[in-house]
Amino acid sequence: MKAEMQNNQPMDSSRRKWLKTVGLGAGAAALSACVDSGVKELSAAGMPTEHFPSATPNLNDGLVRLSSNENAFGPSAKAVEAMKGELFNLCRYADPTTDVLKKKIAKQEGVSEDQVVVTNGSSPILFGYAEWITQNGNKLVTSEATYEGIPRGAEFMGADVTYVPLDANMDFDLDAIEAAVTDDTTAVYICNPNNPTGRAVDAAKLTAFAKRVSQKAQVFIDEAYIEMSDAYPANVQSQLAADGYNVVICRTFSKIHAMAGQRLGYAIMPVEQAQQLGRKLRMGGVNYLGLVAGMASMDDHANLNTMRDRVKTERAKLTAAAQELGQAYAKNPQGNFIYMDTGMPHQEFSDKMRALGIKVVGRTWPGYDTWSRISVGTPEETDACVKAMKAVLA
Ligand SMILES: Cc1ncc(COP(=O)(O)O)c(C=O)c1O
Repeated sequence: MKAEMQNNQPMDSSRRKWLKTVGLGAGAAALSACVDSGVKELSAAGMPTEHFPSATPNLNDGLVRLSSNENAFGPSAKAVEAMKGELFNLCRYADPTTDVLKKKIAKQEGVSEDQVVVTNGSSPILFGYAEWITQNGNKLVTSEATYEGIPRGAEFMGADVTYVPLDANMDFDLDAIEAAVTDDTTAVYICNPNNPTGRAVDAAKLTAFAKRVSQKAQVFIDEAYIEMSDAYPANVQSQLAADGYNVVICRTFSKIHAMAGQRLGYAIMPVEQAQQLGRKLRMGGVNYLGLVAGMASMDDHANLNTMRDRVKTERAKLTAAAQELGQAYAKNPQGNFIYMDTGMPHQEFSDKMRALGIKVVGRTWPGYDTWSRISVGTPEETDACVKAMKAVLA
């Protein structure tokens, strides 16, 4: 790993305010107080804000929410039962239970528990990591059309970010990314399966890539949707961390575990980094009910398998609709969403869908201004979405 370097860049006030917003730097305590201005700041930086409470004040706004890749099927019944049984223990700090989850994750992923950092959702890891990049060489290489947490965050904090175009299949172009990595690159961000394209890269190719590239720069693999991919668990890259490669593997309970509102995520990283960065990322600890539900959900293998099938069924309805309508889309998506060329400015598409009661993603990725990401919902919600897509596009 590269030695700690001081980021000598002057920090302007909007950056400082933004750091406060995402809960970093000296202003972490101000997080809840500045959510409203934070949403504006994040929006201005091109970051996703759909999942911020003030941006979506009312769950019952009458819209079918297919905009944030939430898992509409809801958490495991066993997770819900486990939470009910632990409500009284909310009076206790959750540190000992966090250690139990760390051990559980370490066992499942075959790594040491000292490598595991647990946070309230994985977003704190992404934003904290973006800041870490600015303090450790300031250079990130990633792909176009990928999740913004690290790249846009790092860019906004002054890092030099190289965006490599997707290849002809809309995959991460691993060869071109490797070619873009230099001796002074700090990190490479790979999202697999990728948000928004849903494409998963070949597991063996990614493993070989990470083994080579991590000799030069740390490879961060965001596996938020990995459990939804057809080839799970073969796609999982935790073995790299177990084998001591300079990689970070990041996961969330927001997707297949359907716990987006409960906030739980984790990363696996080199021990020393987990100690230094982890202390900061935990920011006073994680929430108790999330831990309780997360552990119950991890054990509910039947639920996770059913969930993978349900997501796949609904995803197939969306790709079939895109195909029937003759719209280009990223083929063989592996998350709970599809990425489709709507043939009109994305905002126009999103407004037209909204008028029909369906909320799709309200932001764009540079270079893909007519493309929209559409999440799967329950069968009824996906059917309603397909109907609206046909009304808007036929
Ligand atoms: C690829 C990816 N990583 C990380 C996140 C952050 O999720 P959370 O903070 O809920 O764990 C998301 C959210 O949509 C995502 O799509």
